[in-house]
Order: sequence, then structure tokens, then C-alpha cells
Amino acid sequence: MSKEESTVPSTPAPPKPAPPKAPAKPAAAAAKPAVPRRSFLSWMTLAWTAFTASMLAAVTATARFMFPNVLFEPPPTFKAGYPNEIQVGQVDERFKQKFAIWLVRTAYDQYANATGIFALSTVCTHLGCTPNWLEAEQKFKCPCHGSGYYKTGVNFEGPTPRPLERFAISLADDGQILVDKSRKFQQEKGEWSNPAAFLKL
Ligand code: FES
Repeated sequence: MSKEESTVPSTPAPPKPAPPKAPAKPAAAAAKPAVPRRSFLSWMTLAWTAFTASMLAAVTATARFMFPNVLFEPPPTFKAGYPNEIQVGQVDERFKQKFAIWLVRTAYDQYANATGIFALSTVCTHLGCTPNWLEAEQKFKCPCHGSGYYKTGVNFEGPTPRPLERFAISLADDGQILVDKSRKFQQEKGEWSNPAAFLKL
């Protein structure tokens, strides 16, 4: 190298251009939108709970279908105590609530042409209400529309078109009164004279 060359100041090298910046990653991409594990588990629990509840409801409905409501009615035939527990002329109301009958002991019944006891239905023959026995007035009176019946069961006032009904009555082997509600007798059909409709004493 010559002396001249060594005195020439060297030109500074141009600054290197800065390398282009890499574009910033979007924040969302940076953090992946993964379903949180806890949230996933609670959704699964909810789904299983709903499924179990619906299955339980289905099973309950099936069980209800297989065991429907049953109305337990008293048996049509029942014993109603001994005849001497009822006074002559008395309307015995002991079996009104449970069996829907009155036992009436009469000194004389024109239909049976005898003295004894008959079982009278407590169902009003108008629209099915339950009349009351009014001792002072010696009559049955229906509270719904005012139908009235004599002690025999024959109607005499109000809208009802016919008498109360009587049921089969007899004496059981043990001497008790036996009432059979599966056999009824209607006065307007001439059935009160049937021997089964009256217990002669
Ligand atoms: Fe008894 Fe109508 S139901 S009078």
C-alpha cells in the first residue's frame, strides 16, 4: 500500500437497514381460546342431571300408570248390629256416614204388612244429595232443593220424582242384621213388598 492511499479517510459504511419487524401476533391467537376444563365439567354435570331427572320422571309416570288411584268403597254386604239395639219408631243413623243407609224400625209397614226393620238409602232420588232426618218433623229433608220424604221413604214435597230406595235386609247366622246394598228395591215398581226388602220381627 502507498502512503497516499493510507491518508485518504475512508468513507463510513452506510447504516444497515433495520430488519423488518415481524408483525405482532394477535392477542387472541397468542392465547388459544380453549374451553376451560371446569366450565366443561359443569356443563356435563348439568346435562347428566337433566337426563337423570327426565328418566326419573318417566319411571314415576310409568309406576303411576301401573298403580292407578283406587277408590276403596265399603263392601256392599255388611252387618249392622242386633235388632234390639233399635227402638220401635226409631231412625238409626249409625250407618249413614259409612254405608249410606238408615235403619228404620217400624211398628207397622204397609208394604210388608208387618212389623220390623227396613234399610233405606240416604241418596236423594232427585239429584243425589244426602237428606237429613228431622226427628221433630218426622221426615227426611234434602238440603239441596228441598225434597221431603216420610219415614217410610215415600216422597211428598219438593222436586224429587220418586221415593228413596230400600236395600235387601235379613238376619245373619249370629243374629245380627245383614244389609245387602247390591240388591235395591223401588216402591214405584212395587218392589217394597218383596220379602227381601223387609226384616220381619
Ligand atoms: Fe235432593 Fe235435589 S238433590 S232435592
